[in-house]
Amino acid sequence: MKTGGKPNILLGVSGGIAAYKACELVRRLRDAGCEVRVVMTRAATAFVTPLTFQALSGQPVRMDLLDAEAESGMDHIALARWADRVVIAPASANLMARLAAGMADDLLTTLCLATEAPLLLAPAMNRVMWAHPATRANTERLLTRGVRMVGPESGSQACGEEGAGRMAEPASILHALLGPGSGSLSGRRVLITAGPTHEPIDPVRFVGNRSSGRMGVALATAARDAGAEVCLVHGPLAVEPPAGVEAVPVETAEAMRVAVLERLDDRDLFIAAAAVADYRPREVAGQKLKKDAPTLTLELIRNPDILAEVASRRPRPFVVGFAAETTDLRGNALAKLARKGLDLIAANDVSAGQGIGRPTNALSVFWQGGERLFPEQPKADLARALIDLITERMERSGADPSTT
Ligand code: C5P
Repeated sequence: MKTGGKPNILLGVSGGIAAYKACELVRRLRDAGCEVRVVMTRAATAFVTPLTFQALSGQPVRMDLLDAEAESGMDHIALARWADRVVIAPASANLMARLAAGMADDLLTTLCLATEAPLLLAPAMNRVMWAHPATRANTERLLTRGVRMVGPESGSQACGEEGAGRMAEPASILHALLGPGSGSLSGRRVLITAGPTHEPIDPVRFVGNRSSGRMGVALATAARDAGAEVCLVHGPLAVEPPAGVEAVPVETAEAMRVAVLERLDDRDLFIAAAAVADYRPREVAGQKLKKDAPTLTLELIRNPDILAEVASRRPRPFVVGFAAETTDLRGNALAKLARKGLDLIAANDVSAGQGIGRPTNALSVFWQGGERLFPEQPKADLARALIDLITERMERSGADPSTT
């Protein structure tokens, strides 16, 4: 093991089309000053040749456990000891299953058992495979064992489908492996709200909004990747909640409030990313309303402000709110920061078509005496940047954020 300087990185590549992105990861790791050694599974060599990784890493690439010639150089135990960090990108469903089972049936899985270095996985697979109960169970098992994960992300997949299972981008993997936020929330307990709320009108209709929950889910993923224990209280989502996070589904603002307050004790950080409906119908019809009358008037009453209520508690966690504004972003965000008594507020301009329901976002973040602007980018990248900033502000605000 290296003492000081840049860590030695053992990069495992398993079989999947995302293997081509691992080439870029090697380049970036070397640019960052790391020494990289690549170990491929046999299936990975069908996607990228060992020669490519050899050229990029400047080191011989290994595939086989029982390779007398390679073992006479750096044997697998020496390689396992050499590594300061192990990253597997892409990590296929099969590889994750073998790791979860503790198998050592090829060089890569053997190294994962033989090393004491922390292990980071960048899963990549078809969305149905990622959602399969077997993969869910393997993921939970690996996370419980202290394995960290980055991604997968949602979006269009190589198989032509749309959904969660796309490997995280090399920049995100690099960030999770070496970045400033990596491990920064280790041991912290984080509570996040996400998605819209649905306020019933009758058994089949509701008042709601266009929120997809992507930002809250991206924040939960980024907080998890930074080492936090995360609980995500969410309304109806357009995306899956991340693995390794306690997900608490709710429908209404009142149910979200109850779920949040029940889970608030001993939290270090509360992030309100939900687009909570401000009003709900005063009466909820027990039967489906008939469309007999030419007009229908709904009387709406105010919902509780969950964020303001959490912020007014003592002791309380570090509190972060969101603000979707169509005019005077800065003025409105600063007013909301003060009025609700928040530590930090992330504002986005929804008049320009940013934010709500979209995969990208731009944010202006404000706190007492400071601000930072994050330009338009994928919500996953934005979430990591925001988690870094929140961590920095939590540290500045005092040794024990739970008493702020
Ligand atoms: O006041 P406004 O709705 O603009 O505030 C937005 C912020 O407050 C978001 O962080 C949102 O999650 C939170 N909020 C809440 N409960 C409400 C309304 C908003 O927690 N009823």
